[in-house]
Amino acid sequence: MFGRLLLLETVGVVVNEHNKLRINLKENSYDIIIEHGLLSNLGALISEKFGKPKIFIVTDNNISVHWLEQTIESFSAQGVSPKVLEVPVGESTKSFINLEKIIDQLLESKVDRNSLLIALGGGVIGDLTGFAGAVTLRGIKVIQVPTTLLSQVDSSVGGKTGINVRQGKNLVGSFYQPSLVAVDTQVLKTLPQRQLFAGYAEVVKYGLIKDCSFFEWLELNGKKVLEGDKLAQQFAIFTSCRIKAEIVEADEKEQNLRAILNFGHTFGHALEVEAGYDGNLLHGEAVSIGMVMAIELSKNLGHLSGQDAGRAIEYIRSIGLPTNINSIEGSTSWNPDGLIQHMQHDKKVSNGQLRFVLIKGIGEAYLTADVEKKQVYNVIEKSLSGDL
Ligand code: GLY
Repeated sequence: MFGRLLLLETVGVVVNEHNKLRINLKENSYDIIIEHGLLSNLGALISEKFGKPKIFIVTDNNISVHWLEQTIESFSAQGVSPKVLEVPVGESTKSFINLEKIIDQLLESKVDRNSLLIALGGGVIGDLTGFAGAVTLRGIKVIQVPTTLLSQVDSSVGGKTGINVRQGKNLVGSFYQPSLVAVDTQVLKTLPQRQLFAGYAEVVKYGLIKDCSFFEWLELNGKKVLEGDKLAQQFAIFTSCRIKAEIVEADEKEQNLRAILNFGHTFGHALEVEAGYDGNLLHGEAVSIGMVMAIELSKNLGHLSGQDAGRAIEYIRSIGLPTNINSIEGSTSWNPDGLIQHMQHDKKVSNGQLRFVLIKGIGEAYLTADVEKKQVYNVIEKSLSGDL
């Protein structure tokens, strides 16, 4: 398949082959459309699919300065004028206060059951808007228009929505599937490099958990994705979404299989809690370091060959992603016990038992609760010393 893809790339056919996916969830099924320049056609696309209901766009200043005008123009061309609700930039925006503000403005503007709520932004905007859509009038349609690589390959797909509360991240929310995911790869041009790399960690994740041939493709083409090659980006996003769609279709509410999407996240979340969500450590960076730790743990448990572990870690390092905890600013004062404690507070802990997503080969993830604390401790210690 990938050999064929490379051939097609040379004649430019790949764009048509890899720009549309369907996620099949019975009455909650929807399309994911991936196109360079899609924002300038968003109005037409939405009119074609949903007619001309009232449109509300939730966004933040990071994205509105670059992309809001052309998005609005695409609606004006259809004779539609969307109402824009701008929220502050940053993780703390995912709060009850902002949720209430959005709902208040929707109701004041006479939102109705046919209205469409568009989330134009990264994961924060997508999660908050998705949740507002889930609860306003007991559910109005939400269109995800993700603008970071991370949200394009992960958070905009699969229906997880929610906000953060005092007790932790994403602890209040719902599974609420969008009615469409519209991905414009062009917006990656204005995404800061560091964010692009952080999102790329989630792309690598898909290869590691479920698709060895995709991992091989990334080994060959990953640099192109990071350098802004349109076709490579489109294919990487398409394949990531395809893999995520397969997993979500099999286990929408994360009873079991969907948990493999959290590869690297049990370690990663502990790092994020310790770092304090202030921008010092991006989610994707935490996932990158967490994946390396999960790979090492898989190897130490005898489930993964040294050769596969070495290959996977070497790729993550060579592409320029962080691999060790000691690369995080301020981590010199961190210790394994503190990090293990954070892991125990993760919402994915079941009956007090830590659960890990590990791999037994590249592309073969599995879930286990059968890991001794000492093994976890050893991996954390190694990463703290910068030896991974
Ligand atoms: N980001 C993990 C999931 O959607 O399940």
